[in-house]
Amino acid sequence: MNKKDIKKLLNWYQNSKRDLPWRHTKDPYKIWISETMLQQTRVETVIPYYNNFLESLPTIKDLANVKEDKLLKLWEGLGYYSRARNLQKTAKIIIENQKGTLPDSKEELENLPGIGPYTVGAILSIAYSQEEPAIDGNVMRVLSRVYEEKEDISKKKVREKYYVILKKLMKKENPSDFTQSFIELGALICTKNPSCTICPLQNCCKSYKHHTVLEYPIKKKKKEKPNILKTVFIFEYQNTYMIRKRNEEGILANLYEFPNVENFLTKDELESFLKRKKIAYTSIQELGEVTHIFSHQKWLLRVYLISLKKKVSNNLFVTKKELQEIYSLPTVFQKAWNLKKESTSQF
Ligand code: ADE
Repeated sequence: MNKKDIKKLLNWYQNSKRDLPWRHTKDPYKIWISETMLQQTRVETVIPYYNNFLESLPTIKDLANVKEDKLLKLWEGLGYYSRARNLQKTAKIIIENQKGTLPDSKEELENLPGIGPYTVGAILSIAYSQEEPAIDGNVMRVLSRVYEEKEDISKKKVREKYYVILKKLMKKENPSDFTQSFIELGALICTKNPSCTICPLQNCCKSYKHHTVLEYPIKKKKKEKPNILKTVFIFEYQNTYMIRKRNEEGILANLYEFPNVENFLTKDELESFLKRKKIAYTSIQELGEVTHIFSHQKWLLRVYLISLKKKVSNNLFVTKKELQEIYSLPTVFQKAWNLKKESTSQF
């Protein structure tokens, strides 16, 4: 790849780029939020979250000061919730140090929670117009095909090799457009099912020349995810539902959930469980099963709706409206809740 190819890519980007909300700003705070959301999540999913987040928390100070429950509610459904917690940690550091805004140097940025090499490059190139490459999965897919990269692209040394290549190619170009043109090519053209015939990098792409495009990128096989079985209880009492806050450590930390136990319980086992716990109920309905895939595990939930004779004491019972507006219920429990909605909407 040489400067001429970069010109073609940038030209293609000017004509074909999507009109995305974060492309109308250079505000480092907004770029940081968008790039953090976009790291593990698709563009279409991110757009409404991005708009809503910035409307609720328009400044770093607002982010530093927001209650964690509200922050997690803004993130509800996006997944990888540690991203939200790290955003707040970093916002607090910035406000405490009286900087007021994100630093504009690599050294300072990379020491902040949740800001890895990709985010450093994205913030510096997009918000601060510095010649600093940003290499994410999209960019790596493009490069692995252009250069027929034989090594596993998740290796650090592979990324470092392309960092050096991009840094040279980036000289004197518009850094924001340079970064986003590679991302955009990876998102629109150089995809799983690539559209090579209309690709601006066709001429310099080794794998296109050798008809080996689909052999790249080379990635090591992911480990199988363990299956985790759970039984979930939707305890209902006079149109309120019992929820609880999860632990502050581990998966889905500090989010809310319906009470649940490990493994699948049959209805008989559930009845003896409720008896043992002295929970008085009027009816039990088995709603069905749902699955949810996390980064390192797969959950299979069996869901029961249990109508209670009285509230279980010392527990939080909330209305549907409160559940929607206040408490952050992760997608896996939304799926369980949807089974309840489906079962009651038939009547
Ligand atoms: N994915 C990561 N960063 C992006 C950006 N700035 N635009 C579109 N998709 C992205």
